[in-house]
Amino acid sequence: MIIKGDIIFTKNKEKFEIYENGFLLIQNGKVKAVQKEYTGIEKVIDREGMLIIPSFVDLHLHANQYANCGLGYDEELLTWLEKYTYPEEVKFKDLAYAEEIFKEVLNKLWEAGSLRSVIFASLYKDASELMFKLVAEAGLSAYVGKVNMDRNVPDFYIETTEDSINFSEDLIKEFSNNDLVKPIITPRFVPHCTIESMQGQADLAKKYNVPVQSHMNESLAENAWVKQLHPQYKTSTDVFEQYGLFGSNSKTIMAHCIHNTKDELELMKKRNFYPVHCPESNANLTSGIMDVKGMLAAGLHVCLGSDISGGHNIYMPNQIILAIQLSKMKARMEDDLSKVLTLAEVFYMATKSGGSFFVNTGSFEEDYSGDFLVIDTTSIMAPREVRSPIERLEKYLYIGSQNNITERYLQGKKIDKPFKE
Ligand code: GUN
Ligand code: FE
Repeated sequence: MIIKGDIIFTKNKEKFEIYENGFLLIQNGKVKAVQKEYTGIEKVIDREGMLIIPSFVDLHLHANQYANCGLGYDEELLTWLEKYTYPEEVKFKDLAYAEEIFKEVLNKLWEAGSLRSVIFASLYKDASELMFKLVAEAGLSAYVGKVNMDRNVPDFYIETTEDSINFSEDLIKEFSNNDLVKPIITPRFVPHCTIESMQGQADLAKKYNVPVQSHMNESLAENAWVKQLHPQYKTSTDVFEQYGLFGSNSKTIMAHCIHNTKDELELMKKRNFYPVHCPESNANLTSGIMDVKGMLAAGLHVCLGSDISGGHNIYMPNQIILAIQLSKMKARMEDDLSKVLTLAEVFYMATKSGGSFFVNTGSFEEDYSGDFLVIDTTSIMAPREVRSPIERLEKYLYIGSQNNITERYLQGKKIDKPFKE
């Protein structure tokens, strides 16, 4: 397959690669080359005047919180969880409800161009199992986690340690052989897991070579709670490390990582560790602003997540722009303008950096997965406005929407809207 258009991607975080009127060659679902000219005889799909960019990777979202998007943001994390989140998540005992919401979430991910994502599905095994099946049916790619929590939660929303481990293992066994949909071990966060649960989950990660996702250092109240629960350790990093969940055996995603100590950053650097910046969630819940620039400079794979429903938008360009804006506010308040994030850096986080958690995806280098979007910016241009490809990309990210995405390809195959209303 050969597609022609204004091709833009980030090989590294420093700058965009731009091929105006270029050709993207895909073979067996993978990128073969990007070139300025094409003189071969194969038929070219002509998208002249449109942008062709890697599809987005959302490294952190809660599918069972979708109905709460836009709700409860006068609260901070811990009271928001109690008042809004658990009462919604408990509804996923009802599989018919789970199916309706999950289909809607997958439609929205598709619409938004987030063709790969890492999902907190549900506490419940049945609902989590359903999510694996629906992602596969949708033709999208995701890591799906059954959420584990066996302490310090309300009586109406808890499970036994044994169930956490057994159900997680059942799902790993059932879904380990799919190229696009994979399991991920999911301790909710330190305060909600007993030591036995954390140890059991770490054993599973090791036994089946499955990655881990959780939350940490999101709020100051959370960190104080962790210290109180584990007085012998100082941080969530210490606790996760002690019980084998800090990326020593497998890749590890930790959402937020705002309030980190120096020692934690040192250990993150030594591990196969993916901190996820969730700017909208962090703003909504008054959590703080991650030092993204500093963590990128330290060589960490900082990625981007919508964290719905901490975030209220599943559409990644909103997260990209807010990440930049928050970095500017932080830089100004701290009087250190070197902390300002560039568009290329955050685009890289939302594509190649997040993509590296999967396979090679999120860039158009040779052998990268043929995962891309075609974008028509006509509707966002003013009369007589003529712009270069990179200017059109910038405008699309700031003022465009899902409606500007005209086609979505995963592994070189066009993906249609998964579920019809
Ligand atoms: N920490 C523990 N659970 C959650 C959650 O559901 N959302 C966010 N943002 N942080 C958490
Ligand atoms: Fe989250």
